[in-house]
Amino acid sequence: MSTTRVTHDAVMAALQEVHDPELHRSIVALGMVGEVTISETRVTVSIKLTVAGCPLKAEIQRRVSDALSGLDGVETAHVTLDTMTDEERRQLRSGIGGGPERPSPFTADSPTKVIAIASGKGGVGKSSITANLAIALAQRGHTVGLLDADVYGYSIPRMMGVHRPAVMVDDLMIPVEAHGVRLMSIGFLTEEDSPVIWRGPMLHKALTSFITEVYWDAPDYLLVDLPPGTGDVSLTIAQLLPSAAMVIVTTPQITAQRVARRAASMARRVNLPVIGVIENMSWFIAPDTGARYEVFSGGGGASLASELAVPLLGQIPLESSVAHAGDAGLPVVAAAPESPAARALELTAQQIIASVAGLAGVAG
Ligand SMILES: Nc1ncnc2c1ncn2[C@@H]1O[C@H](COP(=O)(O)OP(=O)(O)O)[C@@H](O)[C@H]1O
Ligand SMILES: [Mg+2]
Repeated sequence: MSTTRVTHDAVMAALQEVHDPELHRSIVALGMVGEVTISETRVTVSIKLTVAGCPLKAEIQRRVSDALSGLDGVETAHVTLDTMTDEERRQLRSGIGGGPERPSPFTADSPTKVIAIASGKGGVGKSSITANLAIALAQRGHTVGLLDADVYGYSIPRMMGVHRPAVMVDDLMIPVEAHGVRLMSIGFLTEEDSPVIWRGPMLHKALTSFITEVYWDAPDYLLVDLPPGTGDVSLTIAQLLPSAAMVIVTTPQITAQRVARRAASMARRVNLPVIGVIENMSWFIAPDTGARYEVFSGGGGASLASELAVPLLGQIPLESSVAHAGDAGLPVVAAAPESPAARALELTAQQIIASVAGLAGVAG
């Protein structure tokens, strides 16, 4: 048994190191630490959650308990949960900044590299690719946000395996973190499977709030899963995310290439630079024989890239693991990192890093 008596200072120093899982700041700085009582080798700490029934309370409790248990002179660490008062929540809220009074945090001189992923039509794998690229960037040690701007056809929550609402601190939405990526989607705010029937101006408003009323906290990369097609969203994105670079996803078919070309010309009309093309479902490798099949002939990715005079950033094979992993909420780069599709996606992420690093107006 230890003979050292733990001090209040030692407890506070240990708590200082505990970060809130989604706000990424010390719980001490966030004002989440309430009463601390020490009785011999037993420490009791009260943690004030931002909202009652916070979906992350078990994780916060575990982090605090681990930090205290590691201290010399502590044999039992007891963590009780409480909820902040309105005033405490307001203080936290003003401490972390952001909010509706603010313009877009992603201005041209912001350090975040914004990459909008577009496609001419749906079903080409745009969301699957966006989710996987986000995880691949996070696995390389970058902080990454993923904004699901496909308000009508959102699929990011399911693909990333998130089945809980986003936490609100006052009027500020806290992105939901999954696989190391900060996510925001209309799916975190509506009942599952309820149709989203918003018209143009509301769509603009929804996207504006997703950019200005979300605690993005300046990630290294913000990936935006755009709705398919060439609608008015491009214009909204260009206004709110003036430093965004666009990546176009297409399949090898010539018809897909043709509609993808329209998305590219829309991007150029609103001054969003297209930095490259990703071709998805490029070929299929039979898992039993290893034989390679060109399911969709056409070479659409390469010809679109050359037509736009941009690089072909990657070719992703058609692989059942991509579809399975997406349905299971664990994208393929996390579920099966050795699979050909995962490796292709990782290479593509590296190509994107290299491309945006060289962009004028985007901080290096
Ligand atoms: N490379 C791939 N291999 C196998 N299935 C894929 C691949 N890319 C996408 N899919 C599947 O195709 C469907 C459409 O993909 P999704 O990412 O939702 O497309 P989009 O966002 O363009 O509409 C999904 O069921 C997804 O799992
Ligand atoms: Mg999609």
